[in-house]
Amino acid sequence: MNSTDLKHHAQASASLDKADSDHLSDAISSILPALTAFYEFEGEDLAGRNVEEWKQRLGTPLPLNGEGLDAVLQELVNTVIPNGLRNGHPGFSGWVTTSPTSSGAAAHLAASIAGSQRYWIQAFNFLETVSLNWLKELLELPATWQGTYTSGGSSANLVGLGAARQWAYEQIGIDPSSTGIGGAPPFRIYASSEVHHVVNRAAAVLGIGRRSVVGIPTDNDHRLSITELEKQLKADALKGIRPMALVATAGTVNIGSIDPIEQMADLAEQYGAWLHVDGAYGLFGKLDERVKPLYKGLERADSAAADPHKWLAAPLGNGVTFVRDAAILSRAFTLEPAAYLEGSTLQDGNVVSPFDDFGVPYYDFNLDQSAPSRGVAVWAILKEIGASGFKERVVRHNSFARLIAEQVESNPVLEVVAEPVLSICCFRYNNGKMSEDELNRLNALIAARLRSESQFVPSTTVVKGRYAIRPCYINPRVREVDVTGLVERVSELGNEMSRQL
Ligand SMILES: Cc1ncc(COP(=O)(O)O)c(C=O)c1O
Repeated sequence: MNSTDLKHHAQASASLDKADSDHLSDAISSILPALTAFYEFEGEDLAGRNVEEWKQRLGTPLPLNGEGLDAVLQELVNTVIPNGLRNGHPGFSGWVTTSPTSSGAAAHLAASIAGSQRYWIQAFNFLETVSLNWLKELLELPATWQGTYTSGGSSANLVGLGAARQWAYEQIGIDPSSTGIGGAPPFRIYASSEVHHVVNRAAAVLGIGRRSVVGIPTDNDHRLSITELEKQLKADALKGIRPMALVATAGTVNIGSIDPIEQMADLAEQYGAWLHVDGAYGLFGKLDERVKPLYKGLERADSAAADPHKWLAAPLGNGVTFVRDAAILSRAFTLEPAAYLEGSTLQDGNVVSPFDDFGVPYYDFNLDQSAPSRGVAVWAILKEIGASGFKERVVRHNSFARLIAEQVESNPVLEVVAEPVLSICCFRYNNGKMSEDELNRLNALIAARLRSESQFVPSTTVVKGRYAIRPCYINPRVREVDVTGLVERVSELGNEMSRQL
């Protein structure tokens, strides 16, 4: 069909099915001013305060008859976009995700239209491979490792641990992906008590069980204690419990600590376990020469997860897993052949149409059959800023966390709760006149006031019983004033509120 035929076809069937394919450019242009205004993050974030108003406008019954494209665009402009999520605001340091920068957003839009599926011989499929290779190069991972994009850190860890499970059960003569693991001897996963809870969920989904994830205590630097890990492995070996995987976290979500990967690699070898590194937040921290030595041993891991939708600020829905042995990964996740798909490809003929070949079979390496092209956003961002631009960002953010620590240390009413390793610095108000309970309550109130009335929005956490304010810098838009301003505001609010208390 040529484009004129397509238009006639669309018009002929346009009576009830109002779906428009002819005004893409107008549609995008009409929402661009609202998006641009939102992206400037001016004024207050009113989405929380006006919640009843916009919920009422949006929470309507299913329309029987479509209202058409213009009605949709109008509501997007007037109600949806202005009440969106402002975690890209330079003062927001609450999570390890942010809103995308322009090249990633443009690539994401391009992929939703021109690369709406990563199959087949086409440019978007190729960019999955190109960008995965770039990420390996950036992280200095062996070029032979198989990479695969996922929807984020949860599924990236699930995929890595799915490969671990395949490998571990094959060691005892079981193919878990074909026969399941019912009745097989117990396996355990060992990780620090600071491990992200998505690892426990991955264990649940994989049939290993949440309770089979052993939380190893951390040392004074909040890193997994090697002595405790070794003790536990020895004790379990005596009981006949096998280690499926050791999980090292490279950048814990609470504090940013990095487990002793090299020593964990030694123990994995000694006890016959798979070594998985969860670097969803912090794997890119390796780009900062000041902390790079902490990543020693990464090249000995069997799998590693990283999230471009965190520090690289790719549009959300962008995680990645690298696995040393592509064959194991494929045995764990391969799809059984399907006639409707396989039958459409040539066995050994020439590729004359994209339909003749699937390209790299990424659907055999993770959980999705159909999936968006995620690599194009990573490719776009890395092409735009280069390895050195990204490196500079990581260094800048790690320096922001160190700047917080310096300012806190020079302020008599503030206290560092956990020294920064990467781009997180946990601190609290402490004027030296209150009990631990009172301090915990006061710091929670300070955080609540920060969120409700200031432009500084950090998250909070609890470190060894102490409630802490936890700024985490991964947002490329953060400026130094946002960092120093946060420290000043915590100090002011703490002084004011402790007087009232
Ligand atoms: C260390 C770590 N692992 C895994 C995850 C989960 O990633 P996602 O939220 O993308 O699923 C996070 C998210 O904060 C994380 O920090």
